[in-house]
Amino acid sequence: MRKKVLTLGLGMSLVLGITIASCGGDGGENNDGAHAEPTHQTQNTQPQGETSEEATNPFGVGPIQEKMDLPAEIDEQLAAKGEEIFQAKCTACHKIDEKYIGPAMKGVTERRSPEWIMNMILAPEKMIQEDPVAKQLVMESNGAIMANQGLTEEEARAVLEYFRKIDSQS
Ligand code: HEC
Repeated sequence: MRKKVLTLGLGMSLVLGITIASCGGDGGENNDGAHAEPTHQTQNTQPQGETSEEATNPFGVGPIQEKMDLPAEIDEQLAAKGEEIFQAKCTACHKIDEKYIGPAMKGVTERRSPEWIMNMILAPEKMIQEDPVAKQLVMESNGAIMANQGLTEEEARAVLEYFRKIDSQS
């Protein structure tokens, strides 16, 4: 545990170091402090906005790079379709309430942004190579790797609705 915190701390200073280095590197001194040093971000979901591009992308990497507009209300029909897809294509490695080959799915909509979840489903191979959170999950899964299940964006959206439904019931 101790070690993990230390490693995280190290990683954070590295990120900061890189940010600072790139701030000095772009020649023009005309940014009027626009590059104020970012404060320590301990969350993996950064607010969208003018924060530096070098920082972790809260959407992850993959086809979904625009903010999704999700209605507050759960679409029951869509969630039911998502449950079917989940049973068919995901239960080889995931359970809802407990860790299996991969993480438990319960609470995933609270831990991650909807865009990140979509990208993890649609482009896991990219995510585990490029997204720091997904990389960490590989380690926590003892090196097991999520396989791309070839879902369409629509199917992934249905699964997301199923996850939203589960998390709304807790
Ligand atoms: C071959 C096993 C396997 C299959 C099949 C699989 N996953 Fe995964 N999944 C994993 C593993 C392992 C991880 C952790 C990242 C890694 O190690 O690649 C993961 C991570 C995830 C995450 C991130 C969880 C978190 O806590 O942030 C989501 C979301 C996810 N999977 C959804 C799905 C969905 C939806 C399906 C079905 C379409 C699916 N997975 C199919 C193994 C699998």
